[in-house]
Amino acid sequence: MIAKLFEVKETKNRGKGLFAIESIPKGTIVCFECNNCRTVSASELGYDNMSEKEKMALLDYAYRKKDGTFVLPCDETRYMNHSCNANILTADAGFDIVVRDIKKGEEATYDYRDFYEDIKILCCCGEENCCKVVDFKHPIPTELKQFWTMRINVALKLVNTVNQPLKEELKQKSIFLSLGDTLLDKLYVDE
Ligand SMILES: C[S@@+](CC[C@H](N)C(=O)[O-])C[C@H]1O[C@@H](n2cnc3c(N)ncnc32)[C@H](O)[C@@H]1O
Ligand SMILES: [Zn+2]
Ligand SMILES: [Zn+2]
Repeated sequence: MIAKLFEVKETKNRGKGLFAIESIPKGTIVCFECNNCRTVSASELGYDNMSEKEKMALLDYAYRKKDGTFVLPCDETRYMNHSCNANILTADAGFDIVVRDIKKGEEATYDYRDFYEDIKILCCCGEENCCKVVDFKHPIPTELKQFWTMRINVALKLVNTVNQPLKEELKQKSIFLSLGDTLLDKLYVDE
């Protein structure tokens, strides 16, 4: 489920993408796997018999997790494109958090290298640090992991200082538990 803060629009070179309809501050939790997102196994999809082209096409609708299953997001989350300098990253606790202020009209991007695909995509994010070929290497190279962790940690510190549009929805999952009681208490303090 993605917060209702984005609209689907054509990008210049990456098909459709998600664009912010208002400015979204760093620390905003914008997406998580809700109970309506479907999880499908590789065998259900016949993944092992798919051609490279079919696997590429599948990435338009689903992403693969470490346990080998595929998640089909319930909404327009699937339009989020990859950037090597993404403004949204996944925290270990299981949600996606804004790691750089997103301006109104700016494209929301995620780093696909967190997925477990066995294809490669030629990246056209245009960022200075573009890796050119997204090849889903695991374990994630240390430098990249550090780059993400640093950003995520800074964003997590801001979680209770910004408006959280998914606060109520996140309660359906106990994902905050893994962040420790302090953050949980702060987030769910009586209003
Ligand atoms: C989950 S979809 C994202 C939405 C997609 N742009 C669309 O129009 O449906 C993933 C696909 O978008 C394209 N894509 C996303 N980020 C890209 C990037 N940085 N460079 C090139 N293609 C990208 C690739 O075709 C990829 O398989
Ligand atoms: Zn969902
Ligand atoms: Zn790139």
